[in-house]
Amino acid sequence: MPQRAAFQAALLDWYRRHQRDLPWRRRPSVYGTVVSEFMLQQTQVKTVLPYFARWLEVLPDFRALAAAPEAQVLKLWEGLGYYSRARNLHRLAQAIAAMPAPPRDAASWRELPGVGPYTSAAITSIAFGTPAACVDGNVVRILARLTADATAFRDSASAAKVFTPLAEALLAPDAPGDHNQAMMELGATVCHRQKPLCLTCPVRSFCRAAAAGDPESYPRLAPKVIEKKEITRVWCVRNGALLLHRTAASARRLANVHELPAAEHVALESDAVRRAPCLATRRRGITRYAITETIHAAALPRGIVAQPSTATNATGELVWIALDELETVLLSGPHRRWVNELLRAGHGQANG
Ligand code: ADE
Repeated sequence: MPQRAAFQAALLDWYRRHQRDLPWRRRPSVYGTVVSEFMLQQTQVKTVLPYFARWLEVLPDFRALAAAPEAQVLKLWEGLGYYSRARNLHRLAQAIAAMPAPPRDAASWRELPGVGPYTSAAITSIAFGTPAACVDGNVVRILARLTADATAFRDSASAAKVFTPLAEALLAPDAPGDHNQAMMELGATVCHRQKPLCLTCPVRSFCRAAAAGDPESYPRLAPKVIEKKEITRVWCVRNGALLLHRTAASARRLANVHELPAAEHVALESDAVRRAPCLATRRRGITRYAITETIHAAALPRGIVAQPSTATNATGELVWIALDELETVLLSGPHRRWVNELLRAGHGQANG
């Protein structure tokens, strides 16, 4: 772009006047930057705020995090989802704690667990002023609109690759951290996917799509293919304890996380569980799945879980957790909500 310096100045000036007051910006540190960037992967600022505050209170630096038991780390993450981020952050802290000092270049950070191109650029630019450009969906949207680039992209990852050279070229060399955060801020608060606020945009005069009056046409991304999925779950209370399924420690997703058991976890056919009274129906989206989950008060085959005990299978194990100890185990966010709702609705009585 020919007016690169003018673009950088307009963006930075706007950011320095209008940035949101966020705790990781108030007293910046390498550790705070790393924790916030891990939490902000796939998660909105509003959701992250209370988690970030509690995390820094309990685990204030790399050393404290490195020394913490994994169960504590996961419990602090409970409800944020994508638990591999917490495990990677834990392992990253152990690696950093063993070094004389954290590395300052993006390539070295990419060697660490859970750090990809976006996170390495964010951490090094913000914490050390390293000139590395962050490119995520927000930045792709801004760049596609600035240039009115009508390329049809397969997905947002391939678009990010294509726009990386432009993002690098536009990066303000003397303030890469503020520049990257200004782009994030612009994407989050002005250059919305739908109904962008072009009238208040600090870089509108550089934007071809705004000039043509069709910013919403960019970027051109193939629509996501959404797959429907149904999960039948079991609600079973016996002797003051709730039956839960703990995913195997070796699992890629949700390792060691408790959830209400699915029919197959208790060796029942979904149809048999579905004939039992339905206590709740919940819908949610995870990646490309639209999931409908029904929770049934099902009587279990006595042979499988006759006593408060555990039964192991390939995907994890069944465990009885006393109702008054539910707070102490790691439940995935939606399941914590559903369990609380069902208990409040009076389903804490034995039913199986
Ligand atoms: N998203 C990812 N990193 C961020 C940051 N540092 N500030 C605001 N939003 C972000």
